[in-house]
Amino acid sequence: MNANRFDGKVAVVTGAASGIGAAISAALIAEGAQVVGLDIDEAGLQKRAAELGEAFVPTVADVTDEASVEAGIGVAAERFGRLDAAFNAAGASRIGAVTDLLEADWDFTIDLIQKSVFLCTKHEARLMKSTGGGAIVNISSLDARVPMPGGSPYSTGKAGVVMFTKNAALELAQHRIRVNAILPGLVDTPLVAAVMGYEPAKQMFLDRIPMGVAATPEQIAGPSLFLASEDASYITGIDMVVDGGWELSNFPNLAKLAG
Ligand SMILES: NC(=O)c1ccc[n+]([C@@H]2O[C@H](COP(=O)([O-])OP(=O)(O)OC[C@H]3O[C@@H](n4cnc5c(N)ncnc54)[C@H](O)[C@@H]3O)[C@@H](O)[C@H]2O)c1
Repeated sequence: MNANRFDGKVAVVTGAASGIGAAISAALIAEGAQVVGLDIDEAGLQKRAAELGEAFVPTVADVTDEASVEAGIGVAAERFGRLDAAFNAAGASRIGAVTDLLEADWDFTIDLIQKSVFLCTKHEARLMKSTGGGAIVNISSLDARVPMPGGSPYSTGKAGVVMFTKNAALELAQHRIRVNAILPGLVDTPLVAAVMGYEPAKQMFLDRIPMGVAATPEQIAGPSLFLASEDASYITGIDMVVDGGWELSNFPNLAKLAG
């Protein structure tokens, strides 16, 4: 681990109560940052606060609601007067075949994984702009490049995050703000507990991953912190795949398990 790249820095992490967001928060604090952790899961946030100590500021916020996002990111301004790094990791999805999917499930997923990234980037960048710049990392997914059977809103939303990241990078470079995306493959978090806990489904995924294992959340936190650090000071607008080689072999079709 590189020591203290984030000494004295202030970060916002969304989805901080669990999985990738929790791992990013822990890694930032280990390298000296103070972290405002946003999530809708208040109990989960309190658990993280107990583990991470005073450097973690648990902040209940709904990333699909602009007033809530503005207030949550405002905590960084009120407490610390600045924002150096932001990681937009909150997310979940509802699945269904294109011919069956409900409009409400499409809207839920797109709001949560795509609109939220716009809302968070908007308010994070406003604060960064006023305090000299910073770096934003959006957690997209390999699904942005590889379609998932039954996952049209998720794949579409995550692909949108990649293009939004490029637009934001283009506009914000003049304000010394870099914006990049991470595209994780399969990561062992509560989000994919159903897959990881059902051996036949898990095996179908692992068969697609040349490295043969799911990532730990820490294996996603590492590249995410790299993109936000000075080590990546000339990198903006990229989408970095972190997938153990999975992109090379497409998605498994879990529908075959039902047949
Ligand atoms: N786990 C994987 O295999 C995987 C793969 C690719 C991409 N991702 C993406 O990584 C990100 C993090 O996922 P994870 O695997 O850590 O999942 P997770 O379920 O462990 O964590 C997601 C967090 O987001 C929070 N959240 C959900 N809705 C919210 C809302 N409206 N406002 C604020 N917070 C909200 C949840 O409470 C939870 O704490 C997501 O964007 C996910 O799509 C995950």
